Amino acid sequence: MTETYGIHDLSFATSHYVLTHQVLADETGVEVGKYHRGIGQDAMSIAAPDEDIVTMAAAAARPIIDRHGPDDIRTVLLATETSIDQSKSAGVYVSSLLGLPAATRAVELKQACYSGTAALQFALALVHLDPSQRVLVITTDIAKYELGSAGEATQGAAAVAMLVGADPALLRIERPSGLYTADIMDFWRPNYRTAALVDGQASITAYLQAVEGAWKDYTERGGRDVREFTAFCYHQPFTKMAHKGHRHLATCTGLEGSDEELRAAVVPTTHYNRVVGNSYTASMYLGLASLLDHSADLTDAPIAFFSYGSGCVAEFFGGTVVPGYRNHLRTSAHTATLQRRRPIDFARYRELHDRELPRDGGDHEIPRETAAPYRLAGLSHHRRIYESN
Ligand code: COA
Repeated sequence: MTETYGIHDLSFATSHYVLTHQVLADETGVEVGKYHRGIGQDAMSIAAPDEDIVTMAAAAARPIIDRHGPDDIRTVLLATETSIDQSKSAGVYVSSLLGLPAATRAVELKQACYSGTAALQFALALVHLDPSQRVLVITTDIAKYELGSAGEATQGAAAVAMLVGADPALLRIERPSGLYTADIMDFWRPNYRTAALVDGQASITAYLQAVEGAWKDYTERGGRDVREFTAFCYHQPFTKMAHKGHRHLATCTGLEGSDEELRAAVVPTTHYNRVVGNSYTASMYLGLASLLDHSADLTDAPIAFFSYGSGCVAEFFGGTVVPGYRNHLRTSAHTATLQRRRPIDFARYRELHDRELPRDGGDHEIPRETAAPYRLAGLSHHRRIYESN
């Protein structure tokens, strides 16, 4: 039998707090329909002061370690654009919180929202070299934009952990991949800034060009006919972007269908992103979780993926859902994760938005707020101190 490689298990975590777009609209005077229908967002996850990309990443991965054990994992690839350190990989903190063996490598990857897909492809190459090993891929981000900016409505926070290996239980990843890179400035965050700079309209145009470019390369390398795919999972800085991307792909490829049919191929991927907001590297994989958790039987269905990271790098690839995948889903845990979040009012949201960690290298305790499995307990001599809750 030919060995297959792909995603064996998938679990996500998000933050302790949630701000609804209704609350945002009431305060900013924007007609709420612009958020609900115009950008396709209902709510966004907001991190508590004792949460960061490490606590969310460890919370996402914990159920995977509990189910499969740590022994086959020799690599942790952590993708983020909310890095907490210029040198040390957040993956090392996560490995420590998860109790992974010392005989493990941990690395952090960056290329805006795309790097989770780079991590997935690198993981597939590693397990191809040695099918007895598994790779823990974690995408984790907190999306933050300036108060009062157009991007403010497209914030959010989440982490998705995936166990990648041979003979996967959820999704076989296929070759080829279609690739596209262009040196553009649609979204970036210099080291001295906590909030990103974004030209939203330029980013929409760049995203659509990247759909076209990545699809062209995918086709030239012998990829599937576009009509073979059952569903299309796009990167979702806001869920409406996935629909824009799909309409553009349909135009470029001659894919026929009514507006309703084109929407139906994307809607099942958007349920989680609608209420979590942008989670950068995690966003497309949250889309995959939504698709698997919310669709009728997808056994043997070919799924299309379009991953985009501003700046920009993009990739189009396919995957096939594995028979029996439903026995391995975490749908009720994912629902509970979202329902556990505490709604906050506008004043509290603004206070959390403006809060920054001290930079003086002193000892600082961070009061307990999150009920997540891990928390950022404080700072000491420029080190982050984590603990289990
Ligand atoms: N009811 C329904 N829809 C409405 C509406 C209303 N009352 N008011 C406006 N809209 C629609 C607009 O027609 C538009 O839809 P369209 O794009 O299909 O034409 C949509 O809402 C957004 O309106 P727009 O005026 O373009 O919004 P904006 O200038 O506030 O910007 C973003 C929206 C998404 C560009 C902005 O939030 C942003 O830059 N976010 C960051 C995106 C990002 O992170 N990109 C980088 C990673 S890919």
